Amino acid sequence: MNAGMLTYRLQKPGLLRKLIVLESVSSTNEYAFANNLESDTLVIAPEQVSGKGRFGRAWHSSPGKNISLTLVKNFRISVDEIHNVGFYSSLKLLEAIRDSLTDRNFTVSLKWPNDVLLNGKKVAGMLLDSRDLKNPVKRMAIGIGVNVNEESFEGELAGKATSVLIETGSEASIEELVVSFLQKFYDELLLTEDSIALMNKWRSYCNHIGKEVRFRLLADGEEKLAFVEDINSDGSLKLRSGDGAVRSYYSGEISLIVQQPAQPA
Ligand code: BTN
Repeated sequence: MNAGMLTYRLQKPGLLRKLIVLESVSSTNEYAFANNLESDTLVIAPEQVSGKGRFGRAWHSSPGKNISLTLVKNFRISVDEIHNVGFYSSLKLLEAIRDSLTDRNFTVSLKWPNDVLLNGKKVAGMLLDSRDLKNPVKRMAIGIGVNVNEESFEGELAGKATSVLIETGSEASIEELVVSFLQKFYDELLLTEDSIALMNKWRSYCNHIGKEVRFRLLADGEEKLAFVEDINSDGSLKLRSGDGAVRSYYSGEISLIVQQPAQPA
């Protein structure tokens, strides 16, 4: 990883106050809190040996191939607006990934709550951690994993995850993608305070509204089929279940149902 280039382009007024590049780390999110990092600090490592995913899952990434970073940032927002940070970050990540693709025929989209998909498969995920919930200023750790140059995914992940390399056939620059994400992130921060505008923008990249999905509320919970009515402006997922009941959920996970092409007779 070109630490010099990242520092030169990112450690400046209006962007990062501090950049920490580690050779290897257990988890960048854990490092951020264990070291009580101040706002506007980015910690990034080419190797993460114990990466954490949502729902207590592990997040695997081959050394040197992908992005594993945590951005620590203070937000003056209410507890009810905390989720805005995740929606905003995933939107900015989508924009960075989209702009890195020279061929516009790729589809980039967002999956509730914070996944970025490339050609319908997960290319990036996010793990948000917040402290100081009683304080008007919340310190957030925005943990981001992007599959950039990963060559393949095994087992269950094979059908669900992808990388920029797998979709485009060419390696992408990790550093350029990180710089682009941070520039976009710092460019429109006021959007985190405007839930309606933020969610309107977020929804415009979400293509599972109006579709049937599998929904799981808890990590070990049962998956149920449901129809996505909407993503509300408070960030909750509005689902209609088989019995016609409509409910909104603030947490959980959905899996998209991939339509198989019709077989020729
Ligand atoms: C998910 O399950 O989709 C969330 C994945 C988040 C992974 C990133 S990699 C950098 C940061 N450090 C971690 O341990 N996890 C997040």
